[in-house]
Amino acid sequence: VKRVRTRHFQNAKEAGIKITGLTSYDQLTASIFDSAGIDFLLVGDSAGNVVFGHGTTLPVTVDELIPLTRAVAGAVKRAFVVADMPFGSYEISPDEALHTAFRFMKETGAHAVKLEGGVRSAEQIRRIVEAGIPVMAHIGFTPQSEHGLGGHMIQGRGEGAEKLLADARAVEDAGAFAVVLEMVPSGIAAQVTKELRIPTIGVGAGPHVDGQLLVWTDWAGLGNGRVPKFVKQYADLHGVLTDAATAYIADVATESYPAAEHEYPE
Ligand code: KIV
Ligand code: NA
Repeated sequence: VKRVRTRHFQNAKEAGIKITGLTSYDQLTASIFDSAGIDFLLVGDSAGNVVFGHGTTLPVTVDELIPLTRAVAGAVKRAFVVADMPFGSYEISPDEALHTAFRFMKETGAHAVKLEGGVRSAEQIRRIVEAGIPVMAHIGFTPQSEHGLGGHMIQGRGEGAEKLLADARAVEDAGAFAVVLEMVPSGIAAQVTKELRIPTIGVGAGPHVDGQLLVWTDWAGLGNGRVPKFVKQYADLHGVLTDAATAYIADVATESYPAAEHEYPE
């Protein structure tokens, strides 16, 4: 199979073919999603919530994400793997950002990095891109700044529309190959998508974008918390695993497991 490259993202936008992405944090899901034909996998700092059980993405470190990213990158044959740069690993300077991007590229086998912020992160994006590393930008709601933004808030409404457009233009000018739009109204997402040459990837940005991305555990119904309005749940893994665990516990208690077929002969 031919690997997905940044060119595929651009070609898809030009051809009107939708781009699909999911997060992944381990080799099993990476391999399943890759075999199913997903275009890209993001090893998100959403691992902070999903894998490590923090309430936010803020405590996640580069050292924590590197082994997860390596597992995902090592498992795919076709999908494009994006490493998410965590809070505190790129904001100080373009040099710091490039240093972090080098770590992900050298230590994990990822094909690109992602970082949050539009205008404020443009110089970081430019420096990383100049070093030959593709950058996926991320604007709109940016979870690493949830305290600064005042919570999980929809962005790009009213006067926020101009800011969103300015952020979108800034990341395109800085050389990003794609941009994630998180939690923005469909109309402004459509406008950004029309204005930009690079593809837009929506996470709660409606249908008029070039691709879609979801956190896989939300999408598969694995979490036990509430999922955002924009998520469609494609499975009920929480229910499936709860039923499996309940049945297993009962079977062991009643000695229905192990049965004869599970025993080794003498
Ligand atoms: O970390 C993540 O999963 C993300 C996406 C939701 C955009 O950044
Ligand atoms: Na993220």
